[in-house]
Amino acid sequence: MDKKITVIGAGNVGATAAQRLAEKELCDVVLIDIVEGVPQGKSLDLTEAAPIEKHDAHVSGANDYDLSADSDIIIITAGIPRKPGMSRDDLISTNAGIVKTVTEQVTAASPNSILIIVSNPLDAMCHVAHQVSGFPKERVLGMAGVLDSARFRAFIAMELNVSVENTHAFVLGGHGDTMVPLPRYSTVAGIPITELMPQDRIDALVDRTRNGGAEIVGLLKTGSAYYAPASAAVEMAESILKDKKKILPCAVYLQGEYGINDLFIGVPVKLGSKGAEKVIEITLTDAEKAALQHSADAVQELKDILKKLDY
Ligand code: NAI
Ligand code: 2OP
Repeated sequence: MDKKITVIGAGNVGATAAQRLAEKELCDVVLIDIVEGVPQGKSLDLTEAAPIEKHDAHVSGANDYDLSADSDIIIITAGIPRKPGMSRDDLISTNAGIVKTVTEQVTAASPNSILIIVSNPLDAMCHVAHQVSGFPKERVLGMAGVLDSARFRAFIAMELNVSVENTHAFVLGGHGDTMVPLPRYSTVAGIPITELMPQDRIDALVDRTRNGGAEIVGLLKTGSAYYAPASAAVEMAESILKDKKKILPCAVYLQGEYGINDLFIGVPVKLGSKGAEKVIEITLTDAEKAALQHSADAVQELKDILKKLDY
């Protein structure tokens, strides 16, 4: 294939993302992990599935970064996931160290790539990758809003017994308990859900969306969600690789947009071959603005912790 994506972390999210990228025949895939044998074994397994899945994407695995050279996109999933009782924020010091090391190595091998960060706590890890890479803000993106919006869309479809394909939803803000689902901008076949269900049901779906990650952690007990997160990262990568210019909620570095400064936070972004090509500023009510600011305050607290940890 003429495009290459490196996925760092061959764990649950990384390996599933590699599988989806290959099966969609979007690009060649390089899978990297620190554990010897794991990226090599998983990439060989995916290669052996290719004749049945009918794709010609080349999938390889390694513990170093040589094979990743000149990748178009890097998806960083390296880090530890949370376990029951842990918040995403509990992961900050361990994952900041991992994301720093990984970013240094991968950006040296692929200086023109676009970074999609997945590791948690997401918005804080975007700051680490942005700072360590020195990349322009257009080439550092965080995946969270596509996942949180997909969860909201799935719950809307279940509630109304309609096709998921008819649903659209926007969840903005940080990837945490303060995320901001926007029912006014969430629709079924173009009809706002505020016209399709009573407020108490909307409130219940919003609440389930905010707790979507914790709901899966509570069920799995040994780790966190990975099928939907992998799909979300791949949707972002596809829009970039194919220059589709989809508008998707992504964590990007804001410098004044939405009245927020010097913070990574989820907002609607046009994704094309240059990365985050435009931040779309939608009109928010006073309550929605306050919720977004509250979420930004929570991300700022994480940024302050990073500063204390010398990032
Ligand atoms: P996992 O434990 O299955 O996989 C993580 C992998 O990273 C492991 O294979 C580990 O060996 C590898 N790793 C650790 N340090 C490394 C290093 N220095 N270099 C290369 N590889 C390294 O975890 P999972 O479920 O794949 O989650 C990965 C991360 O993504 C977690 O931090 C999790 O919280 C986050 N996540 C974020 C989501 C989001 O919406 N942004 C959604 C789902 C997960
Ligand atoms: C999630 O939302 C763990 O952030 C991850 O599932």
